[in-house]
Amino acid sequence: MLLKRMAVWVLAVVIATSVVPVPVNGQGGAISPVAPRQELVKSVVQDAYDRFRGDTSGKNADYIPALAEVDSKLFGVAVVSTDNKVVTIGDVNYSFSIQSISKVYTLALAMEELGPDEVFKRIGSEPTGRAFNSVEAVVDMPTHTGNPLVNAGAIATASLVSGKNEDEKWNKILAFYSKAAGEKLKLIDEVYKSEAATNTGNKALSMLLAKYERIYADPFESVDVYTKQCSVGVNAIQLARMGATLANNGINPATHEQVIKRDDIPYILSTMMMAGLYDSSGGWSWHVGLPAKSGVGGGIVAVVPGKGAIAVFAPRLDDAGNSVKAQRVIEYVTNKLDYNLYSPSSVGLK
Ligand code: DON
Repeated sequence: MLLKRMAVWVLAVVIATSVVPVPVNGQGGAISPVAPRQELVKSVVQDAYDRFRGDTSGKNADYIPALAEVDSKLFGVAVVSTDNKVVTIGDVNYSFSIQSISKVYTLALAMEELGPDEVFKRIGSEPTGRAFNSVEAVVDMPTHTGNPLVNAGAIATASLVSGKNEDEKWNKILAFYSKAAGEKLKLIDEVYKSEAATNTGNKALSMLLAKYERIYADPFESVDVYTKQCSVGVNAIQLARMGATLANNGINPATHEQVIKRDDIPYILSTMMMAGLYDSSGGWSWHVGLPAKSGVGGGIVAVVPGKGAIAVFAPRLDDAGNSVKAQRVIEYVTNKLDYNLYSPSSVGLK
C-alpha cells in the first residue's frame, strides 16, 4: 500500500516537473516578446551573443570611407517589445549610421503625405534581384525605381517628401525618424561628409531616374537629402524602438505617439519582407521569416508584428551588404523564440 502511494507520488512529481511552459507564438497570442517571458528572452539573447561574438567573417563597408574606420569588433543586441520592455547586451549605446534602414522610415513618411496608392504608383515594390545600388536594375525594370528599399527607389522616395527647400525636407525627415525612435536623433557629420564626397554612383542613379521621369524633385538635391538620411546616427536600442513602432501598429511603445499610420504598416512590412536584405531577401524569408531591414553601417532591425523588434549592430558585412553577425543573431533568436511568421505554430498548424 505504502509502495503504491509512493509510486503515485513519484509519478505526480515527474509529470509536474516535465510540464515546462512552452513559449507560444500564435497569432493573436497576447504575450509580448519580453513581458511575461523576459527571462527567457534575456537568456536566448545572451546565448546568441556568446555564440556569435567571436565570428569574424565579413568586412566593414569601405566604399564609404568613414565606415571602414568603425571598430569591426563592436557588437550590440537590443530587443524592445510593444509594451516597451527592453533587453540589451553588448555595445548598445554606440551610435552608428542608420544607412539603408532609413529607407523604411522615409517610405513611411512619403505614404503619410501621399498615401500608399500614390507611392506604389510612383515607386513600385518589386524585387530587383540585383545589388542595392544596381544601375542595370534601373534600366531593366519596368518601373525603373524598383522598390523603396534599393538606392534608386529610395532616392526617388526621398524626392517625394514635400518641403519648400532641401533643408525643410531634411528637417522633416529627421524629425520623423526621431519620433519613431522616441528620442532626438542627429546626423553623424563625419559619415555624411564621407559619403557626400564619394557618392558618384547614387548621383548617376538619380540622373538615370530623371531620364525615365521617375524622380520627383531635383535629382542631386534628392541624393543629398538621401545621403543625410543615411547618415543619421542610431544606437541599437533606438533602432529596436524604431522597429517596435512598426510592430506596434505605428505607435511608439515608449512615447505612445502614433508616428506611422496604422493602415500603412502592412505595405511597409511587406516591402521589408520582399527586399529588406536586398538580393538575399529570399533566403532571409526562407530561414527567418520576419520583415527586416539592413544597412551598410552594420545594423539590422527585424520586426515581429504585434510583439516587438530585434536590432543588432555589428559592422562586418557579407557580399550583399548585410551584417553577418546581425543576421546570425536574429536567425538564432527567431528560431529559439518561434518568431518566424511562417513557422507551423505561427500559421496555426501545430
Ligand atoms: O547609398 C548607399 O550606398 C548607402 N548610403 C546606403 C546603402 C545601404 O545601407 C545598403 N545596405 N545594406
